[in-house]
Amino acid sequence: MSDRELRVSKIRDGTVIDHVTAGQALNVLAILGIDGSGGKGVSIGMNVPSDRLGHKDVVKVEGRELSQSEVDVLSLIAPEATINIVRDFDVADKLRVERPDVVSGLIACPNHSCITNADEPVDTGFAVVSGGLQCQYCETVLRVDIDAHLDV
Ligand code: CTP
Ligand code: ZN
Repeated sequence: MSDRELRVSKIRDGTVIDHVTAGQALNVLAILGIDGSGGKGVSIGMNVPSDRLGHKDVVKVEGRELSQSEVDVLSLIAPEATINIVRDFDVADKLRVERPDVVSGLIACPNHSCITNADEPVDTGFAVVSGGLQCQYCETVLRVDIDAHLDV
């Protein structure tokens, strides 16, 4: 890669979330609860060219190694994402996001009369079913627009 092509610097230690569905980088940060207030470096490339995907987003989080369970929830918005754990500038580990069985405390139920939308201290919970998410309390199925319901 020539200097003309370099968009986001390599990192020394941390996690590179690569092959993120184009346009989803900010939702990736929202899901992971990363808003930059921790003081660590966060770099984002959006709509960068990709051989495999045409265009992709890339998120680099310095000083933090994300775990498999933390990244699995990204499968909802970025199923092709690859996770690279970087140590001392080398890629030490590569993870794929795997579809989780349940998603807790992250997405609001679209059913206004669901108990998770009442003034009760109940966390949301969804089973991941084919084509969507099913509320574990009221069984409403959320088929599309998962990002519109992100409760973060
Ligand atoms: N990366 C980084 N900092 C490092 C090492 C790697 O930001 N110190 C980034 C690279 O820019 C790339 C990703 O981590 O976006 C994966 O790096 P690497 O495995 O070297 O690249 P590829 O072989 O192209 O990855 P893939 O397996 O996804 O094809
Ligand atoms: Zn519900």
